[in-house]
Amino acid sequence: MSSGPTAEDIKDALRGVVIPPKPQILIDIQKAAGDTVKIVDLISKDTGVSASLLKIVNSPFYGLGSKVTSIQKAVMLLGVDAVTNIVNALILRSSLSAELEEQMSEFWDTSMDVARAAQKIAEKTGLVNPEEAYTAGLFHNCGIPVLIQKHKNYPDIIKQSYADPDGYVIETERQLITVDHAIVGYKLCRLWNMDDRISFVVRHHHGGKKAIKKAPDEETKRLLACIILAEHFAELFKMLAKQDKSFAWKRVKKYIKQTFNLEEKEDYMNLKDDVIEAVFNLSDG
Ligand SMILES: [Fe+2]
Repeated sequence: MSSGPTAEDIKDALRGVVIPPKPQILIDIQKAAGDTVKIVDLISKDTGVSASLLKIVNSPFYGLGSKVTSIQKAVMLLGVDAVTNIVNALILRSSLSAELEEQMSEFWDTSMDVARAAQKIAEKTGLVNPEEAYTAGLFHNCGIPVLIQKHKNYPDIIKQSYADPDGYVIETERQLITVDHAIVGYKLCRLWNMDDRISFVVRHHHGGKKAIKKAPDEETKRLLACIILAEHFAELFKMLAKQDKSFAWKRVKKYIKQTFNLEEKEDYMNLKDDVIEAVFNLSDG
């Protein structure tokens, strides 16, 4: 792989693209540092976020049984970290979807799928923090909506990038539009003060085995592997790129399976079935 775009390339390519500043509610939630009362109060004050949050919490994925009607109850049942993650998702979505809501909606659905799959992989393997996995899944492609603002044909660029059997997704993307969604997403993470581990995953989620090997520590390596595996289980190559196979997965699967001790086919299939059952087959509640 090449060394990637220079800072000057990125600056040029992003001219006219708005990377939204970190929204005040997220800054306030971060400042509240886990203080449940303050966080419930902050979320409750934003009626739009509250309504969307309750809708998500009452979805079959959480399987909470009785209907949750208050933010306080949602925090009691799911924990403050899980609720904060959902709020992150909602705010990220509203910050980046002011225009083009329709074009974005499929994209956000895929991000939510990856976030949930990553959370389940983390829970099942016990090797990754589930909350961190969810957040990383949600943010990993956050460069895409930023780039859609500038390149109305971006969905075609993504298709072409995934379709090249010899190329790497982001290399093809750079050839077409100079930058790629991983580096743009990384810039957004930096602007929003995301932690280093999440920022690394956003920056390197298409980096293949090289990226896995250069992760600064074991936790980062496992989080990156978790997101790559979650993307594969969620079939982003089909959903987002409209391809029937993933060339990138073929190159990286050995390393992902090693990371989670899934070299035995049966172990891999069991995890895959569990994740798909939990995330995608929700009709039984
Ligand atoms: Fe991506």
